[in-house]
Amino acid sequence: MSATLDWIGSPADALRGDITVPGDKSVSHRAIMLAAIAEGASRINGFLEGADTATTAAIFQQLGVRIEVPATGERIVHGVGLHGLQASHGELDCGNAGTAMRLLTGLFAGQHFDCALVGDASLSRRPMRRVIEPLAQMGARIEANAGGLPPLRIQGGPLRGIEYKSPIASAQVKSAVLLAGLYAQGETQVYEPQPTRDYTERMLAAFGWPIEFEPGRAKLRGGHRLQATEVIVPTDFSSAAFFIVAAALVPGSKLRLRGVGLNPHAPLHGIEVPVGVVADMIDEFPIFFVAAAAAEGTTTIRGAQELRVKESDRIAVMASGLRTLGAHMKETPGGAVIEGGALRGGEVDAQGDHRCAMAFAVAGAIARGPLRVRDCANVATSFPGFEHTARTAGLRLEDAG
Ligand code: S3P
Repeated sequence: MSATLDWIGSPADALRGDITVPGDKSVSHRAIMLAAIAEGASRINGFLEGADTATTAAIFQQLGVRIEVPATGERIVHGVGLHGLQASHGELDCGNAGTAMRLLTGLFAGQHFDCALVGDASLSRRPMRRVIEPLAQMGARIEANAGGLPPLRIQGGPLRGIEYKSPIASAQVKSAVLLAGLYAQGETQVYEPQPTRDYTERMLAAFGWPIEFEPGRAKLRGGHRLQATEVIVPTDFSSAAFFIVAAALVPGSKLRLRGVGLNPHAPLHGIEVPVGVVADMIDEFPIFFVAAAAAEGTTTIRGAQELRVKESDRIAVMASGLRTLGAHMKETPGGAVIEGGALRGGEVDAQGDHRCAMAFAVAGAIARGPLRVRDCANVATSFPGFEHTARTAGLRLEDAG
């Protein structure tokens, strides 16, 4: 996204109303992917109309899959079957979407054609060795730039199942291996150090692929088929989280988020975040940092070094911004120690990271003066319409161009 966008947030009165946040990003990506290689036409409702999920859909169109858009948030995907994708001479552009690049690397490793996956400047700095290594163990041939960075050149070919003990708690790594496992000979099993979101496993089961899974482990065999189905995408908790925190922080708020029950429960208290839940709430950390900065007492986060290789270094970006607002946030390599207190206004930089931009927008509602948030245009990555929803909820958010 090239246009720049800054926001100015101002102290808000109570938040009120009934809002619906957009569809879940992770589920939307996976729905397109599995529907594309299923047999028959799948209908997707509640699809996230975001930039990230649009890139996934565009890639499958480039590979010969017909996708209809009957209405906003709806897709009909005419699946071509497990082996029906067609080669494309052009590069496949994943834009800002790490989920697209990592999952598709797994999915494309076992195709009968070669392809190249590219991304924007942020994605081109994100680590891909974490998927290349297990996929190479399965027999995949994938070349990356120095340091395991995109672009990725994937030579399609036969794969064999593996048992993989992932050193990283990452749903993207687990999913890349499982999706490659659809095309592999024999059994593929993934163990993870902490349970991560199990959307790929659930979605595979919904499309009729036999799969066994429990928190921290998933197992499937190659050689089955996916059957078209209807997918109803739930709204995204990672998007709802901004409003949950905003309503919890702004006194007197009463906000209804469809699908997420919420009572006013300010003031918040600092906590020590259990390491075991870090992977599961990884996308909620930018807004969690804001909550912690405005809570009473100390919040400690450990084991969250993955935040340093997201769309931005989310620990550094949030620490720098929150410190500008007067918060006490000390960075550690894998987390932070935050002393809660009052926030003042000022100017912070989201550095093009959608979730940091939205987190700072919420900070603006409780800061004691206007807050300018720089570089917010990427918000459409996961939450198109955020500004409108935010204003509907009572946040005072101006577009500063
Ligand atoms: C995602 C998994 C998470 C998350 C990302 C979406 C997914 O990444 O940060 O936004 O859809 O699988 P990791 O599991 O790799 O940490």
